[in-house]
Amino acid sequence: GKVRAPTHIISTISDDRGEEPCYAGVPMSTIIEQGYGVGDVISLLWFKRSLPRYCTQFIEICIMLCADHGPCVSGAHNSIVTARAGKDLVSSLVSGLLTIGPRFGGAIDDAARYFKDAYDRGLTPYEFVEGMKKKGIRVPGIGHRIKSRDNRDKRVQLLQKYAHTHFPSVKYMEYAVQVETYTLSKANNLVLNVDGAIGSLFLDLLSGSGMFTKQEIDEIVEIGYLNGLFVLARSIGLIGHTFDQKRLKQPLYRHPWEDVLYTNRRRRCRRGRR
Ligand code: ACO
Ligand code: LMR
Repeated sequence: GKVRAPTHIISTISDDRGEEPCYAGVPMSTIIEQGYGVGDVISLLWFKRSLPRYCTQFIEICIMLCADHGPCVSGAHNSIVTARAGKDLVSSLVSGLLTIGPRFGGAIDDAARYFKDAYDRGLTPYEFVEGMKKKGIRVPGIGHRIKSRDNRDKRVQLLQKYAHTHFPSVKYMEYAVQVETYTLSKANNLVLNVDGAIGSLFLDLLSGSGMFTKQEIDEIVEIGYLNGLFVLARSIGLIGHTFDQKRLKQPLYRHPWEDVLYTNRRRRCRRGRR
């Protein structure tokens, strides 16, 4: 009989060997002719299945509203400085992307992990938040530099409104809102941020859509798929900032001395002494 040579790579999401490429078994002609969108393509390549329209639309909303947040945030700032140093598009893009992490844009997975764990264990917001404090961990998905109780993040409100209208259940998001109510009693800027809103709502999407087993949900949360949404979305803005700087022919950036607090004292060095 036939002996199958062992392969060095296993791949389960796409196939380019036939007449046309397939994403999770769906041929490109179907994707184009049946009007699939970016949300459908993400569903196929990340989750290996077609998701209902309200889910793919939610994914597209996340992408659109995380695409940019102005030139002052960490990622855009890095991309701008890199582009002004004369570097190419890819360098400017990755320089911005490298700032995405636990404080900026990359708190979605941890928000999903901690909110899920706390909700599933039946912790009250008080028990959850104070437990995190005892462990010295900031609650991922809570807090913002410029948003506050009186200056809410419109993006969070838009996501919540969409989910209230289209999702069968928003239990994780409601829990996140209860956590926010408690953290807001401590400080004005401890709002549910866009990472926390996406993290909690994605839990609702995964568990409420009936498209994923419990084991699959646990795996998605454990591996950490959701920061990918921010990375993908913000790439759009970072590329835009790079083009903007190049179009404007901006010179090399140097930070002004006046904006640095120099605290190292000058020492007088005598000759002959070390
Ligand atoms: N949980 C608990 N307490 C918090 C949190 C939080 N998430 N955020 C701030 N605090 C409290 C702490 O007591 C903190 O004091 P500490 O420095 O002794 O821990 C105090 O508020 C002041 O914190 P600052 O660092 O001044 O707050 P800042 O406004 O600079 O931080 C930030 C904003 C970085 C977003 C912060 O709230 C945080 O780390 N949040 C968790 C991570 C997160 O969700 N990041 C995503 C933000 S949204 C986005 O980037 C798209
Ligand atoms: C963002 O989307 O970049 C932010 O919420 C972070 C910020 O400080 O505005």
